[in-house]
Amino acid sequence: MMRDASQCNSYNYGDALYWDERYAEEGLSSFDWYQRYSALRPFLLKFVPFSSKILMVGCGNAAISEDMVKDGYVEIMNIDISSVVIEIMRRKCAHIPQLKYVLMDVRDMSFFQDGSFDCVIDKGTLDSLMCGTDAPLSAFQMLEEVSRILKPGGIYMLITYGDPSVRVPHLNKAGQRWKIALYIIPRPGYKKREGCSSPNSMMEPVPLTEKGLLPPGFVLEDPESHYIYVCKKISESFEGIPNHVQPPTMTMQ
Ligand SMILES: C[S@@+](CC[C@H](N)C(=O)[O-])C[C@H]1O[C@@H](n2cnc3c(N)ncnc32)[C@H](O)[C@@H]1O
Repeated sequence: MMRDASQCNSYNYGDALYWDERYAEEGLSSFDWYQRYSALRPFLLKFVPFSSKILMVGCGNAAISEDMVKDGYVEIMNIDISSVVIEIMRRKCAHIPQLKYVLMDVRDMSFFQDGSFDCVIDKGTLDSLMCGTDAPLSAFQMLEEVSRILKPGGIYMLITYGDPSVRVPHLNKAGQRWKIALYIIPRPGYKKREGCSSPNSMMEPVPLTEKGLLPPGFVLEDPESHYIYVCKKISESFEGIPNHVQPPTMTMQ
């Protein structure tokens, strides 16, 4: 698992060759980083209707897209920089017409027109770029592209280990503005301490400060929790307000 910058540097997660070798070794098996569909389902059902046109960036060999289709999602385009995994997934999912797999670098998605998707799901892909060479530039290029290919009002759902101090600055740099709602969920298998927050509390957004940070004194129940940033694309034509006069908006209901 990628946990911090020092561990990042031991692998080149931003390098296609690293992923090609890894997926060649893994063969036909599947692996979901961080969280499986069952844990993310309440968030997807809340923000992403079944009829949405969805783009899964850096899909890898995760089962989430297949699980989403079994649940009712009708159109998921999956992209990855690894030609090995795209070939494996194409064959494996050839019988599922709702799923497409295309070899593509998330930093250059010129294959897609502006405003092509209702939702982009990113589980661990921005994190991988943050471990590669030229990380800030790669993150910027990726987020500009994500914003471009989303429709106004579309959702970029970022599932990451990165807390707001290391992710919000990148989100705020990209060309479009986001309205961000943050949710925090414990890692799979984490045992709750008795008396801790109610089972539904993780569906409550965590308020962010004006600077986009966690509130002072905020304590994570599981220190290795995962963060879900639900970023809604806002634009001049959609909100009726010129982007440059809008202050950063950090919560969304
Ligand atoms: C941490 S894995 C996550 C895989 C999958 N999303 C999941 O949840 O299990 C990161 C994935 O991003 C892909 N990736 C890395 N850099 C990429 C890039 N520039 N463009 C597209 N995919 C990339 C890797 O090949 C890998 O499959």
